[in-house]
Amino acid sequence: MRAGYAFIGADAGTWRAQSTTVLRGDFALPHAQGLSIVPITDPAASIPSAWNLRAMMSNVRYATRPELTALQAIQQPLGRQEARCAALIPIRKSPAWWDLAQDERRAIFEDAAQHNAIGMQYLPAIARQLFHCRDLGEPFDFLTWFEFSPANTNRFDDLVGRLRESAEWHYVDRELDLRLESI
Ligand code: HEM
Repeated sequence: MRAGYAFIGADAGTWRAQSTTVLRGDFALPHAQGLSIVPITDPAASIPSAWNLRAMMSNVRYATRPELTALQAIQQPLGRQEARCAALIPIRKSPAWWDLAQDERRAIFEDAAQHNAIGMQYLPAIARQLFHCRDLGEPFDFLTWFEFSPANTNRFDDLVGRLRESAEWHYVDRELDLRLESI
């Protein structure tokens, strides 16, 4: 079974919210001081909270075998002790993106935007996990989660800046950027 998770914004959590920025679109989350990520089967996933976004880990869509092998060789796991900073970046892509065929999306994602090629330059400092929620009826298509040490905050900002200038982001019509620190 694929792993489902609830991202819960509440008064308290395992992460403390530092800032929330609405970058694209008009969807905002109610203010919450804390964030927790729990398996969807956990009773905590159903407790009333300021907000609750659900998403699942899934299979890869665009990465090729050589890209995946290189990625797996260098990427770091979540939960590193020194990675006390995190970012939750919920993203929705436009109908124009979803109207494309798989090969057309891959051409934009990597041939044009070089998403993975750019991202690889920031590993192993940044640990990442992609969650999908388009088919769950959520307000976003993806929840993207990143962990890094405080010393790498500028590098993370540099990375998101480059991706947001890319051709892929022409198709992003809703994007938030939540920054957090571990408690
Ligand atoms: C840390 C370096 C990063 C690397 C190595 C990386 C790599 C990747 C790869 C390989 C995929 C494709 C997975 C697949 O084949 O299905 C992907 C998807 C994605 N990444 Fe990144 N990424 C990075 C950073 C970021 C950042 C900073 C953001 C957000 C600002 C982001 C947002 C996304 C989204 C939304 C998708 C899904 C795209 C889609 O399926 O349409 N990534 N990433």
